Order: sequence, then structure tokens, then C-alpha cells
Amino acid sequence: MSETISGFSKLSKSEKIDWIVNTYLSKNDKAKQILTQYWNADKKLQQLHDEFIENTITNYYLPLGVAPNFLINGKAYTIPMAIEESSVVAAASKAAKFWLDRGGFKTKVISTKKIGQVHFKFGGKFEHLVSYFTQVKPKLIEDSKHITANMEKRGGGILDIELRNKTQDIEGYYQLHVSFETLNAMGANFINSCLEQFAKTFKNEALYFDGFSEDEKYIDIVMSILSNYVPDCLVRAEVSCPVEQLSENNGVSGASFANKFVEAVKIAEVEPYRAVTHNKGIMNGIDAVILATGNDFRAVEAGVHAFASRNGSYSSLSHAEVKDGIFTFWMEIPLALGTVGGLTGLHPLVKLALELLDKPSAKELMQIVAVAGLAQNFAALRSLTTTGIQQGHMKMHLMNILNQFEATDTEKQKIVALFKTKTVTHNAVVQTLENLRN
Ligand code: MEV
Repeated sequence: MSETISGFSKLSKSEKIDWIVNTYLSKNDKAKQILTQYWNADKKLQQLHDEFIENTITNYYLPLGVAPNFLINGKAYTIPMAIEESSVVAAASKAAKFWLDRGGFKTKVISTKKIGQVHFKFGGKFEHLVSYFTQVKPKLIEDSKHITANMEKRGGGILDIELRNKTQDIEGYYQLHVSFETLNAMGANFINSCLEQFAKTFKNEALYFDGFSEDEKYIDIVMSILSNYVPDCLVRAEVSCPVEQLSENNGVSGASFANKFVEAVKIAEVEPYRAVTHNKGIMNGIDAVILATGNDFRAVEAGVHAFASRNGSYSSLSHAEVKDGIFTFWMEIPLALGTVGGLTGLHPLVKLALELLDKPSAKELMQIVAVAGLAQNFAALRSLTTTGIQQGHMKMHLMNILNQFEATDTEKQKIVALFKTKTVTHNAVVQTLENLRN
């Protein structure tokens, strides 16, 4: 059978599956059953999911877990997390509990500005372009009123439009660099619609601008799109306590824990190989909450990593210090999030996750997400600088190994009990399972 097809999107879901199974999966006699077993019996719910994207053939499950005991600015939260990595929710919960007894997390939204750009080419004199921009700017805003009216009523809208000369980078390249306040919406559609309207007005009005020569009247719009780089949509999360409160029952003093922890963060500040993994740990917490609350994790990832390299080399997002006997661990991170629009009002689990968080504003969600990231980073560094990471990871991974070997519930119970005091390794678990079965 041919491996290409035209009109695929017009096939029914079953026909799509048949084509895939016959073309690629004919050797797997369970393929169709595997794909269809995830269909929801509730037809309306299934249709909702089918229609999120094109060519849906089934649902892809991820576990939705919760991490309780987060104290943020004095308010208690149970944070929803959608993630497949076995140790993440456990680590978040542990860090939440640790800081619950030490004053909890303190957070602050620093700024909420979002950015979009109209990229265009202009071959004429810069002074002419500047006069044109000055004249057309009020018209750009006026022509987009049909898009901005509602947002303005709620207190948001266009903050400013700047003309930027980028001809040092590319000949004839300029931008309309626009800043927006989108309140509780992530704002991608709002921003892109405004930008496309600006582009239209900007191009059309140029045809009638007296200050342009005949040749200068033809502005070439390249594209109009929001930026996921949002260094001015920034939130800060922090924990702190007297150093002696960091001591635990494992014989490590608070001071030596704090010193090693600060060293570990310093390494991530100067060493990109470490910084990437350090920040990956932060994103374990962030992405899980972003996914659970129906936000765009690709946008957040792209923006956060760009921010982590804003000084010319990739560096740690978090920082730590000990000053006057006080240990402080903090992070400032750009997060453009929404709690209205997009999936937030559509996906039943997303709605529930937001309800669990007491229907937060976008600003409140920024703070919760930042805390999830900082907590995750704390948990990772705490393990790395004391017991090592594998102890906790392998304990959590034990169930994955057992499932891989299709262990029964009784086998699972016995093996989990056995490994309470033993080091979990893949080999040791498989060996124990084999012994048990023999
Ligand atoms: C694993 O998903 C994340 C860690 O590697 C993060 C870190 O090394 O800081 C444990």
C-alpha cells in the first residue's frame, strides 16, 4: 500500500486508523485495539478532544497528579501537575512540606508586559520613515479599536508602539515593536490580530503619505507575530530561613547544607552544561503546572531559555546565598500565562485544575507556577548535594520497572516492601522478580 495519501483529513477517525494500521502497523495485530482503547465512551467528551487538533486518532494520556502543602504568601495551595516523569510530583510535595514548616514561599509579580512585532522592509530614507511613523501611529491604534475595545474596558490593551531600526542587522529591515497588557489572557490571538491590523494600516496609509517619494510608498510587510520572549512579564519566587533551620536528622548541619547548596547553584550560574540540567529540573515543575492548567508549554520553554541566556551565555535561572545567617533561594522567571481563553475554558480537566487553584488570575498563576519551578529545583539540589539523585529517582522508577515486566499486584507489594531498605537498580529488581516467580 502507498505510504502517502491525499484527502487524509477528510477520512473518518476509523478510516484514518485503518489506513495507518494497514500502511505502517500491519505486523502489530493489536495496533487498532491499542489506538481505540483510549477513546472515551462519552461521545461528546471524545468529540471535544477530537476537535482540539486536526487528524485526531486517539487520546494520549498523561498522569495528572497533585502536590499538596504549598504555602505561597500565606495561602495554602494543592498544585495540579500533569507529567510522566516518576519523581517530579513526589519531589514537589517534599519541597512544599519542607518549606511549609519554614514560612513557605514568597512571590511577587514584577511586570506583565507582552510583546509583538510587525517586521517590514523599507528601502527609503530613515527620516522619512520616522515622520511617517509619527503621523500614522494614532491611526494604527484607532484602526485596531474593534479588536482592542473589550480588552481596554477591562484595563488592558496596547501599551506602546515603537519604530525600531534594524538595518545594522539586515539591510532595509525595520520593526513596529509593540507592547501589550493582556490581563488574564495569554493573549496570543489578541496580539496577533492587533499586529495584522497594524500591518494592514501601516502599508495602506503609506501610499498616501506626502513625505514619501513615489518609491518610498511601497512598504514590504514580511510578517506580524507576537514574541514568546517576554523578559518584562516577570515573576519572582523566593524561600528563606535561618541557616540552622536547614539542619535535618541526617547529621548534616544547616550551615554545611546551605554552603553546599549555594555552591551547587553557583556552578549552574557559570557552567552551561550544568545550567541546562539545573534549569531542566526547574522546568519539570513549571511544565507540569503549565500543562495541567492548559497553558502553552512550548511558548514558556522558548521564552524561559532565551531569558536564561540573556547575558550572552546560558546560565542558572535560580540563585542562592547565605547572608547574616539567613539562607535565601530565589528565581525570577518570565511567564506569559492565561487563565481565560484557549484551553482554559474548554478542557474539563483544565477547568478543574484552575478550580483547584481557586480560579487564579493570570498574575496569581504566574506565582504558583514559579513556585512549582523553585520547589522542584530545591528538591533536586537537596538530593544532589546530599544523598545523590538516584536514590529517590530509582525508588520512584521501581513501579515503572515492575510494570514493564507486567508484575501482578501481589508481586508489586512484595517487591516494594523488599526494596524499602535496598538500593533500587534495574538489575536487582528484575532479579528479585525472577526469584519470586521461580
Ligand atoms: C531530572 O529530571 C532533573 C534533574 O536532573 C535536575 C538537576 O539535575 O538539577 C534532577
